[in-house]
Amino acid sequence: MSEAGEPILEVVDLVKHFPVRVGVLFKHTVGQVRAVDGVSFDLRRGETLGVVGESGCGKSTLAQVLMRLEPPTSGTAKFQGRDIFRMRGSELRKLRRSIQIVLQDPYTSLNPRMTVGDIIGEPFEIHPEVAPKGERATRVRELLEVVGLNPEHINRYPHQFSGGQRQRIGIARALALKPEVIICDEPVSALDVSIQAQVMNLLGDLQNEFGLSYVFIAHDLSVVRHLSDRVAVMYLGKVVEIGTEEEIYTRPTHPYTQALLSAVPVADPTLRGQRQVIRLEGDVPSPVDPPSGCRFRTRCWKAQDICAEEEPELTVRTGGQLSACHFAQEKSVVP
Ligand SMILES: Nc1ncnc2c1ncn2[C@@H]1O[C@H](COP(=O)(O)OP(=O)(O)OP(=O)(O)O)[C@@H](O)[C@H]1O
Ligand code: SF4
Ligand SMILES: [Mg+2]
Repeated sequence: MSEAGEPILEVVDLVKHFPVRVGVLFKHTVGQVRAVDGVSFDLRRGETLGVVGESGCGKSTLAQVLMRLEPPTSGTAKFQGRDIFRMRGSELRKLRRSIQIVLQDPYTSLNPRMTVGDIIGEPFEIHPEVAPKGERATRVRELLEVVGLNPEHINRYPHQFSGGQRQRIGIARALALKPEVIICDEPVSALDVSIQAQVMNLLGDLQNEFGLSYVFIAHDLSVVRHLSDRVAVMYLGKVVEIGTEEEIYTRPTHPYTQALLSAVPVADPTLRGQRQVIRLEGDVPSPVDPPSGCRFRTRCWKAQDICAEEEPELTVRTGGQLSACHFAQEKSVVP
């Protein structure tokens, strides 16, 4: 964690809908999957913003759109004050260096037929200005060392490494072009718990060393806590609460955040009994046809008539954080 600087990424009202197509040639659009449906946040230089929510709430779609791997439906995202979605030519090339992604599954995201040296050095083929040909092997060895791998293993293949080591390879590759922002899309979810901590520590060390800013995506609030300066909680394509680590973990105001927190394992056994468990009823509704008003209302124990009629705005309600609940109220869930 670090002192937050100026915003490096500013996302305003970002929307990504996918058409639902039917028919023999999928020619008829019958609806839209509202995967990301009006998301706004800032990422400050040197900061980690945790993004948390259940499966299908739009986290990876958000990451893909910010990486310009998918076009947005609407909204803006600025990197260092310039609109990402309008970038072309050399400006877009620079963006592609400056924002990198680390994916969840190091097994499928690394090409099994390439050596580690080629995998980590591949970005230099596209951006030779970062490392001229003669310097690449040296640079790859340095990167292996930076992520805690043996530089002598430069000619090995991905299957010769463990899961945690493979994720280190993925991180080295993401670092190759000296990025400023790394979007981590569940980088430790596929790893054993003991290995998760090591990879999280590595990401924390790299952040300090290189002044990186992270958008750190996870299912679970416990994973992002130690690394995050602020946390955004997503539900069905929307941010429902966003605040500092302290605000979100010690005095959450949105019922969904409170429910997610109540599912976080409590490390201290003497405190386990004091934790209030909030069990959410029912499944997450379809993003094709989300509930009217507050999208969380079909699972919310506090829902009133107004919740079906009026969509709660994400705004400061009580405490310092932004919360999208008509009845936002601070509540300490975990002792
Ligand atoms: N290319 C696509 N075409 C159609 N629908 C899509 C596409 N990509 C994602 N979706 C849908 O958008 C919604 C959000 O998916 P997304 O993968 O962003 O969720 P997620 O929060 O990353 O979930 P998980 O935690 O399981 O990774 C889901 O309903 C998903 O089925
Ligand atoms: S607005 Fe209503 S339904 Fe939505 S979280 Fe608040 S109380 Fe629950
Ligand atoms: Mg995902």
